[in-house]
Amino acid sequence: MSKIVIVEHPIIKDYLSKIRNKETNTKEFRNAVKQLSVLIGYEATRNLKTQNIKVQTPLCMTQCEELVNEDITIVPILRAGLGMLEGMLELLPSARVGHIGLERNEETLKPREYYFKMPGNYETMQTFVIDPMLATGGSAVDAIDKIKEKGIKNITFICVIAAPEGVDRLKEAHPDINIYMGTLDDHLNEKGYIVPGLGDAGDRIFGTL
Ligand code: PRP
Ligand code: URA
Repeated sequence: MSKIVIVEHPIIKDYLSKIRNKETNTKEFRNAVKQLSVLIGYEATRNLKTQNIKVQTPLCMTQCEELVNEDITIVPILRAGLGMLEGMLELLPSARVGHIGLERNEETLKPREYYFKMPGNYETMQTFVIDPMLATGGSAVDAIDKIKEKGIKNITFICVIAAPEGVDRLKEAHPDINIYMGTLDDHLNEKGYIVPGLGDAGDRIFGTL
């Protein structure tokens, strides 16, 4: 059964207030997105498999668990998804990284693909697709279409802020994937921006305002 989870935590709420604030500068914004990625990613990786290992402590042998060395790939949707990559790699330092370049046309709101590169072993791969914003859902749906075309089945989408319209669209197009978010906002405005949102995530992460 796929999951749709809003990760509730006071520290997440605190960082969300920082990224929403238009006075937050690029350095603080980037750091807050990174921290949010760790916190939301922590919950999104809760079902990773572990295996038993024996460990010698300074006092005795004991039974512990370690992560199974699974084939995990993190897939940021460029550009803004790159802002979440460092945080996700802190959780999963051995993960591979695929890249999908998508840019939303400001008039039609449809995404245009300009880059796609995924590492191999598609059959067994477990993917975490990351993008801070799930607005109309067009970019997430297209990215996951492309990933599925490769034969990849195990897909989790992680975002920071989602709009109800985007969640509905993604759920309808890909009912089998898990969706994790830091918060679910109110609505999209006529320009396809999430309200209250944070403005343009890519511009705020990369200082291209
Ligand atoms: C933003 C965001 C998502 C997309 C969400 O990227 O990072 O990828 O918009 O909108 P959607 O759900 O309506 O598709 P944008 O296309 O602005 O590109 P950027 O990351 O390069 O700024
Ligand atoms: N992309 C963004 O960066 N922000 C929004 O509010 C919607 C799409």
